[in-house]
Amino acid sequence: MRVGFDYTNMISDVVGENGISPKELADEYSRARKAVKTLRDKRDIIRWRDLPYNQDEIVKDIKLTAERVRRSCKSFVVLGIGGSALGPIAVQQALNHLRYNELSDEKRNGPKLYIEDNIDPERMASLMDVIDPETTVFNVITKSGSTSETMAQLLTVMRMLIDLYGEEHLKDRLIATTDREKGNLIGIAKKYGLTTFYVPEGVGGRFSELCPVGLLPAAVCGIDIEAMLAGAAMMDEICDNDDVEKNPALMYAVLEVVAMRHGANISVLMPYADSLKYFADWYAQLWAESLGKKNSFGRFGQTPVKSLGVTDQHSQVQLYTDGPFDKTITFLCVEKYRAEFKIPHAVDENPNVAFLSGHTFNELISAECKATQYAVKVSGHMNKSIILPEVNANTVGQLIMMLELATAYAGELLEINAYDQPGVEEGKNMTYALLGKRGFENRLDAMKDNTPRRII
Ligand code: PA5
Repeated sequence: MRVGFDYTNMISDVVGENGISPKELADEYSRARKAVKTLRDKRDIIRWRDLPYNQDEIVKDIKLTAERVRRSCKSFVVLGIGGSALGPIAVQQALNHLRYNELSDEKRNGPKLYIEDNIDPERMASLMDVIDPETTVFNVITKSGSTSETMAQLLTVMRMLIDLYGEEHLKDRLIATTDREKGNLIGIAKKYGLTTFYVPEGVGGRFSELCPVGLLPAAVCGIDIEAMLAGAAMMDEICDNDDVEKNPALMYAVLEVVAMRHGANISVLMPYADSLKYFADWYAQLWAESLGKKNSFGRFGQTPVKSLGVTDQHSQVQLYTDGPFDKTITFLCVEKYRAEFKIPHAVDENPNVAFLSGHTFNELISAECKATQYAVKVSGHMNKSIILPEVNANTVGQLIMMLELATAYAGELLEINAYDQPGVEEGKNMTYALLGKRGFENRLDAMKDNTPRRII
């Protein structure tokens, strides 16, 4: 079962003058082929590409730990942010029941899952209201081992657990996922003897879903992580092809890079499935943090926009048809949903409503997806579609790898480093200064310089 990619509506002879001409596309092919080679040569640096192939032992350990957690707890809480949270959220939503936490214990396939991707004090307080520490296991995830948000969440949980059960029992209730050497978490994990999983070198936060960062929470919730990795491996092989027309990730990257030259500096991802809703959040971070960079040629990157079909047909699609030609739209389409739901007969006397009866919600959502693709195309806006035959662990693994590789190829074509995030670091450092971390005091002066212009 293969994930498909259809870029017909990106091309000018279909979408009109704002599209990419066949010549423009073909002109990129030699640079694109070079990008495939460069990425191949970088395999020992970008190790996230090897995750589908080199984790047999780790997967065994993850499954053993997941079994222990599933037996012993009713809630599993992930502490982490950004790349340490968005992948687990996307995969859980994609592959488990859409109202997973609300199911009864008997129906749910594992503990409830909470992923704390923020530090809103109300959110932290509300978490404490709904979990029972007695039956909760926490997984703190931070590659750097020092992110303030995650450390604040960790301190809260450690204090609570130590007060309730004593330091010696932390190891029964807290699991760490972090770098093998760097950062503060590894020291804490060693001191308290925590079960620890490692984020391998060469695997940055937003490329880490297929390592223990994503695999442990998924396995705890009963997701088939081996099928996910198999899907990712299959897509990696497909996307190693230097024939652009046979390589969906490379074609995706080429199209977006050329589209940027046409002024399309916005990239909309619009899944037509609630199960894929949070893939748009995950993609937004991947695309924005990897490609929003400057180099000696200029400033690059597209602003990612999250959209949901059909919900946002009633919110954003007006802009995607009649608005400016500053965006590309990528539809995430699903051919076979996991449920079929009929639209029953109820008011047959009113033909304006009754035409729906006898159809299914499946037919309705698929028709609306096709209709929106058409409306966007005839309005002259570039769009393309990624097609999932079904949403399952294997196709989700394929989707993750395809979009990660598309990001990496786009980085090569734009000649930027897709793996750092200097802009994020600046914000982190100013937070340290504001909260009094030693060594960051001098930075506060820079903040005081601005003359406030504030109303009320
Ligand atoms: O992709 C990235 O590298 C970042 O978004 C990080 O995931 C995020 O800042 C959290 O970092 P860490 O996992 O080190 O706590």
